[in-house]
Amino acid sequence: MAGHRIVFTPSGLNGSVEEGTSVLDAARSLGVDLDTVCGGRGICGRCQVEVSTGVHAKWGMEVAEDALGPRASIETDYRGARPLVAGRRLGCAARVCGDVVIEVPAESQVHRQVVRKDLDLPAFTVDPSFTAWFVEVPEPELGDDRSLADLVRLSVRDQHGRTAPHVPLRALPMLQPAIDRGSGAVTVVVDEGDQVVAVWPGFVDVLLGVAIDIGSTTIAGHLCDLSTGEVLASAGRMNPQIRFGEDLMSRVSYVMMNPGGEAELTAAVRTAVDGLIGELVDQIESFREYVLEVVLVGNPIMHHLVLGLDPTPLGQAPFTLTTNRALVTRASDLDLTLPYARCYVAPCIAGHVGADTAAAVLAEGPHRSEVTQLLVDIGTNAEIVLGDRERVFAASSPTGPAFEGAQLSSGQRATHGSIETVRIDRDTLEPRFRAIGVDLWSDEDGFAAATGPTGPSGICGSGVIDAIAEMYLAGVIDSNGVIDGSLAERTTRVVADGRTFSYVLSEAGGNRIAITQNDVRAIQLAKAALRAGIDLLVEHAGRPEITDVRLAGAFGAHIDPLRALVLGLVPDCPVDRVRSVGNAAGTGAVQALLSRSRRTELEDAANEIVKIETATEPRFQELFVAAMGVPHSTDPTPHLAATINLPEPSASGPASGSGRPRRRARGVPA
Ligand code: FES
Repeated sequence: MAGHRIVFTPSGLNGSVEEGTSVLDAARSLGVDLDTVCGGRGICGRCQVEVSTGVHAKWGMEVAEDALGPRASIETDYRGARPLVAGRRLGCAARVCGDVVIEVPAESQVHRQVVRKDLDLPAFTVDPSFTAWFVEVPEPELGDDRSLADLVRLSVRDQHGRTAPHVPLRALPMLQPAIDRGSGAVTVVVDEGDQVVAVWPGFVDVLLGVAIDIGSTTIAGHLCDLSTGEVLASAGRMNPQIRFGEDLMSRVSYVMMNPGGEAELTAAVRTAVDGLIGELVDQIESFREYVLEVVLVGNPIMHHLVLGLDPTPLGQAPFTLTTNRALVTRASDLDLTLPYARCYVAPCIAGHVGADTAAAVLAEGPHRSEVTQLLVDIGTNAEIVLGDRERVFAASSPTGPAFEGAQLSSGQRATHGSIETVRIDRDTLEPRFRAIGVDLWSDEDGFAAATGPTGPSGICGSGVIDAIAEMYLAGVIDSNGVIDGSLAERTTRVVADGRTFSYVLSEAGGNRIAITQNDVRAIQLAKAALRAGIDLLVEHAGRPEITDVRLAGAFGAHIDPLRALVLGLVPDCPVDRVRSVGNAAGTGAVQALLSRSRRTELEDAANEIVKIETATEPRFQELFVAAMGVPHSTDPTPHLAATINLPEPSASGPASGSGRPRRRARGVPA
């Protein structure tokens, strides 16, 4: 029989096949990445390809219009799961009748590139752990002594041209019910170790996975199609452990004071994760049975609690982890009602730097970076990562709750009605601001009506950063953070408050929202703890130039980069090099879910990161004191000065460092 040359693009794989060979068979024989679930039955539509006709100088070929034979009924009558795109052919049905160049579109590749804008996912390649094979299992006949397991295994082998998978004990009970309900037709799901993990009746081509970031306050999840990499649904809910304590340390205290209390905390978080998965599956009107994998990331205490491990060693030095390895277990071991799913729990980096940071590192890639990258996630603890492709350092710094608006006179969590952006006129010292959920500035018509009779409800953490940075730029506070009481003669915004002064942002509806001297001091302390941690890592890294600053997490998403530099939250650098990266931990968890190679990268990166313990570093105290000043008591700020007019440093010299670093106990307010 005549042979024809066939070239697949974009891979460039090519070879010679006999007349009449299907494109799918040609792809298989040449090792081309062409998807199939139904094995050429015209059901799945995963094998779609395009013919490139005309002259291909690169390949020295001319491809005729009829290089593939005419459409057979399997194509003309196609009613499969995926619509057949106009101009495309089903690779399993189209037959080679001449030299041909075949384009395999991204959707038809098993290992395809995924680009997600809404989740800030960089382009990466899906590298799935599971594959589905649709088979028709022959009816057992008298005299045929093959077992049910063998009939299924051999059906996969014979109908898909691959090795027969193994059927472990766990999968055996699934066989008969699936074959009965599917009238002999079943979808067999096989993992990367060639073990059958699920057998479903009929044709199923949506394999689901869930990536979950367990935060102290919120639990966020993304439901993904494991084959396409598509994020199908996202949802979040409050962490119910809040009823045992707002911050992590108070939850550890609860366990210390209530023997067996960790079981309650474990049950609470597992129930919430299970409920969240149910919500995600409901969103796409699917079933829990189709969820094959769950990836969990979280800070060390959440990590231990969801695994049912005692978190109390993590509440105090030396912060010893029970395990720092990635774990793979059955989802049912964590009380998740997912009959076929396994659970991958990402590794913590250290006793105070968790798997959420490891996931953020995977997403943002300091270990892949040519330049020094600073990645900061600010909460009641700040996780700090600094480095490049040569070496990466990590630490956490006990910033306390001030950045979340807690323990400030008008502070509150970021909720509807709280002030989040502030500007102060340099001449009049009059403020204007915006509140969450209201699109207007406070000096625009309609703002009062939009915020209601009581006006803004308070000020959130990013609003306080804005306000204090603006107060500094307007000369309301000096570089020591002291509110200038003499300004009370110039403006009614500066008011006496006992022996110190406050700056009043709003008094709408009799609800005074002000920044007091104590508020400024609380933010200075939090900032100094964060900055001292950063500066410590900068020293360990040999004082590299930092030109890539990434602010992660909910708080980081709302900080104005310029004002972060004014306050000295991060070291001086060009303003356009400071940016928010959103929920980097969630993005990293999704990548670990969709790609085995990314998962390995996460584990390697977590293992190789150099951990710095701020509590035992003698330099931390000195760096903390120097970081009390605004922007900084000793570090020059040439990039900032080139961008904006900065006030003269205060005559009284640098900040005296009247504050002290917090005790090194996670989340404990100083
Ligand atoms: S392989 Fe399923 S339709 Fe072609």
